[in-house]
Order: sequence, then C-alpha cells, then structure tokens
Amino acid sequence: MAQIIRGKELAALCKQQVAERVKALEERGVKPCLAVVLVGENPASKVYVAGKEKDCAECGILSRVLRMPETTTQEELLDTVKALNKDETVHGILVQLPLPEHLSAQPIIETIAPEKDVDGFTPINTGLVSLGDARAFYPCTPSGCMKMLYSVCPDLAGKRAVVLGRSNIVGKPMASLLLAADCTVTMCHSKTKDLAQICRNADILVAAIGKAKFVTKEFVGKDAIVIDVGMNRDENGKLCGDVDFDSVEPAVYAITPVPGGVGLMTRAVLMENTVKAAENACKTLA
Ligand code: GUN
Repeated sequence: MAQIIRGKELAALCKQQVAERVKALEERGVKPCLAVVLVGENPASKVYVAGKEKDCAECGILSRVLRMPETTTQEELLDTVKALNKDETVHGILVQLPLPEHLSAQPIIETIAPEKDVDGFTPINTGLVSLGDARAFYPCTPSGCMKMLYSVCPDLAGKRAVVLGRSNIVGKPMASLLLAADCTVTMCHSKTKDLAQICRNADILVAAIGKAKFVTKEFVGKDAIVIDVGMNRDENGKLCGDVDFDSVEPAVYAITPVPGGVGLMTRAVLMENTVKAAENACKTLA
C-alpha cells in the first residue's frame, strides 16, 4: 500500500501560511490583490477562475476578475494587461488560458510585468527558474509538485527523477526545479525510446503528458514516488490523471491522487506567489 500524498491537507497548510503573510502586509497598509483576466466562455476556465476567487477569499487576498467577451481583440487584451501592469493596487496578474482561438497567448504573456507574473510564464521568470534564481515566480504546478515531493522525501539530493512531458508550463520548469534540488533528471517525451524501462529506474516519476491512465505498473519501481499532473477524462467521463492509479498505487512507495492531488497544490502556490509579489512591491516602496 502506497502512501497517498493528499493535496487537500498540504494546500490547506500552504494557504494558512499565506494568510499569515497577508495579515502582516495588512498591518503595513497593503492589501494583496490578484487580477484574473478571463476572456470568453470556456466552461473549464470559468470553474478554474471560481476556484481562484475562493482561494483568494480564504487567504484574505483581494481578487479582481476581469471578464471580457469572446469577441475581445488582441489589442484590447494587450491594453487590459498594460493597464493592470500600471495599477499599483494590483500585485499579481493572471490571464486564464486557453484564450479563444483568434487570440495569440504568447504576446499577451510577454506583456505581463515580470514582477506581477504570478503564473511564472513570462520569459524573464522562465529564465530565472532555469538559472535556479530564488527571485523567480516558480510556475504554480511544478512548484506545487516539489512541495508534494518534499512532504514524503525531505532530501531529494541524488534521487533519479524522470519527467514525462516537456511542456513549457510543467515539464521544462519541473526539470529545472528537480535539478536545483540536486536530483539527477531525465526528461522523456513522445519520441523517447524504451520509455517504460527508463521510468522503472526512477526514484521520482512526474507524469505530465495529458494522456489518461498512460502510466501503468510496468512504468514504476517499488520505491518510486509518483506525481500525477494529468487532468483527463476516462472512457466513462470520470476525472483521472496520467497515471493508472489502481494498478500503480499498490506497486509504489508514494503517489498523488487525481482529483485531490496536484491541482489543489497548484492553486495554493498561486496564492503564495501573489503574496510574494505584494511583499516585493512593499519592499520596493520601503
Ligand atoms: N489554465 C489552466 N491552468 C492554468 C494556469 O495555471 N494558469 C493560467 N493562466 N491558465 C490556466
């Protein structure tokens, strides 16, 4: 029986610590504020944004959701981001992805002021993360995964970590954070040969490929810690991860569930990044 790394308890602890930092800022007259830009009517995005509003309320962070119509132009969205960059009462900016098809996300992301980029998606933050520089806003999902790993393995030095998936948002920054923690990191992707064999040798396996139940017991060793970043629907429409939990769980040391795992930690790290942005702004003013 594996140890189940539950997102709920870890996220609650993380948000409690954020709430304390928010209080300390309030005593100095600063109210941390996260601006979320939501363009269009994507149902999943609406659910995610509602979750972020709830987390903000729990931590004492102000949330300002800017809802823009599906017909919003690239220029209008750019102007909105630029106005938020200038607004000193806003500490964090998040443009909810995906954007409607007629808009390009990259120029929008690149317009967000790096000091307000609580998603950690701008090129400046991406660069700082790969340099292992603590000034960076770490992207929320990889940062949440690291907290989950540390909860069951406080010393990661020398561990063999395998990252499945090379996305800019999860796989690549995940590899950087594991490397900064002195892991020996292997990145695997759709063209990797002997995938199951490489994964079987991992002490830490992070699955972030977006394929329902792709990782089966043939991919894991008995002492492995498995972090499942996937958020998919199975053949019955039920939420599931990239890992086939029922087959893998009895075969490993520790594993995150889906739902109730990485997703909750991702949201908690967004709160942490927002309070960090507000603290930084406070220091700049002092
Ligand atoms: N859409 C789904 N997850 C995320 C996220 O973490 N950040 C942003 N900006 N959009 C998302």
